[in-house]
Amino acid sequence: MLAAALLSATALQEQKSPQDMNRFIDALMKRMTVEEKIGQLNLPVTGEITTGQAKSSDVAKKIEQGLVGGLFNLKEAARIRDVQRLAVENSRLDIPLLFGMDVIHGYETIFPIPLGLSCTWDMAAIEESARIAAVEASADGISWTFSPMVDISRDPRWGRVSEGSGEAPFLGGAIAKAMVYGYQGNNLKEQLKRDDEIMACVKHFALYGAGEAGRDYNTVDMSRNCMFNEYMYPYQAAVEAGVGSVMASFNEVDGVPATANRWLLTDVLRKQWGFQGFVVTDFTGISEMIEHGIGDLQTVSARAINAGVDMDMVSEGFVGTLRKSVVEGKVSMKTLDTTCRRVLEAKYRLGLFDKPYKYCDLARPARDIFTKAHRAAARRIAAESFVLLKNDSVKQHSGALPQPLLPLKKQGTVAVIGPLGNTRSNMPGTWSVAARLDDYPSLYEGLKEMLAGKVTVTYAKGSNLLGDAAYEERATLFGRSLNRDNRTDRQLLDEALKTAAGADVIIAALGESSEMSGESSSRTDLDIPDVQRTLLEALLKTGKPVVLTLFTGRPLTLTWEQAHVPAILNVWFGGSEAAYAIGDVLFGDVNPSGKLTMTFPKNVGQIPLFYNHKNTGRPLADGKWFEKFRSNYLDVDNEPLYPFGYGLSYTTFQYSDIALSTPTMTQDGSITAVVTVTNTGRHEGTEVVQLYIRDLVGNITRPCAS
Ligand code: BGC
Repeated sequence: MLAAALLSATALQEQKSPQDMNRFIDALMKRMTVEEKIGQLNLPVTGEITTGQAKSSDVAKKIEQGLVGGLFNLKEAARIRDVQRLAVENSRLDIPLLFGMDVIHGYETIFPIPLGLSCTWDMAAIEESARIAAVEASADGISWTFSPMVDISRDPRWGRVSEGSGEAPFLGGAIAKAMVYGYQGNNLKEQLKRDDEIMACVKHFALYGAGEAGRDYNTVDMSRNCMFNEYMYPYQAAVEAGVGSVMASFNEVDGVPATANRWLLTDVLRKQWGFQGFVVTDFTGISEMIEHGIGDLQTVSARAINAGVDMDMVSEGFVGTLRKSVVEGKVSMKTLDTTCRRVLEAKYRLGLFDKPYKYCDLARPARDIFTKAHRAAARRIAAESFVLLKNDSVKQHSGALPQPLLPLKKQGTVAVIGPLGNTRSNMPGTWSVAARLDDYPSLYEGLKEMLAGKVTVTYAKGSNLLGDAAYEERATLFGRSLNRDNRTDRQLLDEALKTAAGADVIIAALGESSEMSGESSSRTDLDIPDVQRTLLEALLKTGKPVVLTLFTGRPLTLTWEQAHVPAILNVWFGGSEAAYAIGDVLFGDVNPSGKLTMTFPKNVGQIPLFYNHKNTGRPLADGKWFEKFRSNYLDVDNEPLYPFGYGLSYTTFQYSDIALSTPTMTQDGSITAVVTVTNTGRHEGTEVVQLYIRDLVGNITRPCAS
C-alpha cells in the first residue's frame, strides 16, 4: 500500500546502461586536472549539525574551485540547492555534489533507535522505516545517508550499541539488507530512477563494535576465525544488497587501522565480496592515523588511498597532500583515476549528472516530510520494538484477585513519575540529527492527549537524571537537556510521593537520557542511576502498582528491578511517536511482541555475555551455578538476566508439532522446519518464532547456538 502510494508520487528517470556510464565518465575524466580529480575525493563537513570535533573552512570557495566531492550535515532543500548551484554553475566542470547526512533511524519522522528497531525482528517494518527515511531525506536535499550501521557488539558498555542491531550476525545481516533496500531500492547497481531513493553507506567497516572494554574508538584485536564467523556477515550482506558506499572504521583491524588496511578494503571488500561502490573514511579517519602512529598527514593519506579509500571525510589529507604524493610516485595516477571514477560513478548512478537538483524540489518538503502516514508508521513500528521484560500478577485493589499488572485499564488516575516522564527532546533518541526536538510529545503529554476523558494523567519529575550535575551535563548534549531541577532530592521526592498518593497506578519513567548512549557515550556502571533507584524504591513503598517504563539505548543491569518491580516495559527510545506507542502498549491496544537482540547481563562483570558463545572444554551443567574446576564465577551464575531472544507478551503461545523436512542436511544445504504456534491466552498477539541451530561435531569449535 505504502510503496504503491509513494511510487505514484515520484518522477521516474530514463534508464541508462553501464556502457553509457563508462563513456560519460571517460569523457569527463579526460577533461579533469589532477587537482579536480583529487577534489572529488574530498568530503568536508558543514551546517549546524555536530557529529565530530573538527569543522571545515572556506567550503564555498573550494566548491567553486572543484576541490569538493560532497558535503554533509547541511539541512534543508533550499540551502542544499544553493550550494549545489555553486558546483554545477560556478565550477569549471559542473560536477554535482553529493549531500550526505546521518539519517540513522528516520529523518524528521523518527523511528526507534536501531537497537530497538532490531527487536521487532520484522524485516518488512525495518525496510519500511528506511524507505520513509529516504523519502523524507531526499525531499530535503539529501542524496546519501551514512546508514546502516551494522557493527555487531557484545558489550553494552559501548554506547553505540544503540545504533546497531545487537549481537547476532545472521539477524544483523538480514537487517542490513532490509535497510539498504529501504534506502536505495534494489537498483543502485545500475541507476536510481526515482528521486526519493538515496544512496546508503554501510558502516563501520570493520569490527568497530568490538573495542576493548567497551570504550569508544578503542583498539580491536580479533582472530580471523572470529571475525569471519561472528562479525563480518552484516557488512557482507549490505554489499550483497548493492550498498553504494562503505565507511571505514576508526579502529585498527589486525594491527593496521581500517582506514589504511589494504587487506580489509581491497582484498576482502572488493576482491572477495565484489563490492562495486566507493569507500569513505569516518570523520577525520585519515588524520587520526597520525595519532595511531602511522606517519605524517602525507604518509597516512597515501596509505589510505593505496589501501582502497576513495573519499576523505573532513581530514583534508587528500586535497592537502595527494598531488605531492603523485609527483613523488607514492600514489600512482592509476590509483587516483580509479578512486575518482568510483565517486563519479556514484553520482552518475544517483542520476545527479542528468538532474543535479533532483533532490531539491522545493514543493516536496511540505508534502513528504513528517506526514500523517509516516508518523502513523512510526507509531506502529515503535510499539513493535518495545520489549516486555516482566509482568507479574498483582492485586490492583483490596479484595481483587491478582492479575497481570499490564495492560492497564483505561480508568482512574495514572501518575507518570520520573526524569524521562516529561521530556520532548529525549524521545527521538540518539543519532536523530534532523529531529524536530520540540515537536514530539513527551510521555506525559502523549498519554494525557490519548487518554483524555477516560484517565486522569498526572506528573512529577521525582528526581534528576543523575545525582552528579557534571555527569548530567555530559549526558544531555545537543539540545537534549533534561532541565536539571535545582530543588533538593528530598523536595523532588516529596512532590512525587504526593502525586503518587493521588494515583491508582504509577508509571515510573526512568533509565538513561538519550545521549547516555550513542557515540562517545561509553559507561562502566549500567545500573539505573542512584537518584532514580531511590525514587523507584520510594514509589514501590507506597504499595501502589508500579510499571517501570524503561528508557535506554543499551542493555542495563536490572537485577534489583527484576527482583522488586512488578512490571517492566523496555521502550528504548521509540522516536517521534514514542509517547503514543507507549500508551498503545501500556493500555493494551497493542500487545508487545519485541524480543531482545542483545543480552541483558546481571552485572557488568559478566560482560561480554552473548547467546552465541562457545561451549569450552569445561562447561557448567545446565541449571548449576558453581562447580569447582568448571567455567564459572564464584559470585554470580553464568546466566544473563534476560537472554537474547527474550520478551513477554500479554498472551501465551504454545509450540507443537515441530518437524524437520529431513533428519540430516540435504546436499544443497537446506532443511525446512515446520512448527504449529497456537495462541493459548486471552489477547490477540504476534509471536516472533526463533530457530537456533548448533553444529555438534567439527574441526574448529562453534557457538552453542547460532
Ligand atoms: C561517526 C559516523 C558518522 C560520522 C559523520 C562519525 O563520528 O562515527 O558514524 O557517520 O561521524 O557524522
